[in-house]
Amino acid sequence: MSRIAYVNGQYVPLADATVPIEDRGYQLADGVYEVIAVRGGVPIDLAPHLRRLDQSLSALHMAPPMGERALRVILRTVTARNRLVEGILYVQISRGVARREHAFPPSSVRPSLVVTARTQALAPESMFEKGVAVITDADLRWKRCDIKSIALLPNVLGKQGARERNAFETWLLAPDKTVTEGTSSNAWIVTGRGQVITRPLSHAILGGITRSRTLEVAHRLGLKVVEHPFTLEEARRAAEAFLTSTTAFILPVVRLDGKQIGDGWPGAITRRLRAAYLSALAGGGVAGW
Ligand code: PDD
Repeated sequence: MSRIAYVNGQYVPLADATVPIEDRGYQLADGVYEVIAVRGGVPIDLAPHLRRLDQSLSALHMAPPMGERALRVILRTVTARNRLVEGILYVQISRGVARREHAFPPSSVRPSLVVTARTQALAPESMFEKGVAVITDADLRWKRCDIKSIALLPNVLGKQGARERNAFETWLLAPDKTVTEGTSSNAWIVTGRGQVITRPLSHAILGGITRSRTLEVAHRLGLKVVEHPFTLEEARRAAEAFLTSTTAFILPVVRLDGKQIGDGWPGAITRRLRAAYLSALAGGGVAGW
């Protein structure tokens, strides 16, 4: 079955899904996106993803191409037409097609909306059982990382750096040697005293949807949670570490820059969080249209 994409009003086979070369997303990275996990044929945390999409658009003074109800219909249709059971929906909105110029085009230019679907295993159990390796590198990004913009060059370079060193992710370091986040995930540590630490929301990180679910779950479990920046040194000394994202859920980090964290295996608190996250998904109110 060929994959079907939505492009500016039409459902087309992926191979025929194109935008004009003067699309501002293509030429200027002038756009925003969301990645939404689909499990059992239904999206996870759709409402918060759509809310964050709206926030990204409004931070860039971009008008939404349509109302939320219409967008939901498109997401549902793309899911159905691709018979997507487990995988991701990708939504991208750019400022539209116009003669290349940095300043905004006339308001008559309509934003471009593209939605694609892809089957992929989410948070594979095998990866969870072993945990993953993370490396670190300088955070070279701009000062509005809270906007989910399609301008991802530093993230691309960071992830490639991880690939080349057999790691899953790169944790990005601010000039003060605190960890901001990963190239496509939020970063967490657990101290020897069982304190769960992640960086507070600010312009320095993306407000991850999985991050806020994990905070909720941690509070429900009665864990001690602190939203505070942590340093590379603190991460090295941590008893446990993990990362969170739409596609990885909660994934243990067992090596940092080639050195093991804790005993080198997924930690007990990380396991509890992951189990609680999965039961929250199963419990309703999180996954669904
Ligand atoms: N990445 N930080 C960054 C820089 C991200 O790109 C992402 C998500 C996250 C985690 O956010 P969430 O829990 O809402 O997925 C944190 C997506 C999955 C991506 O770009 O593919």
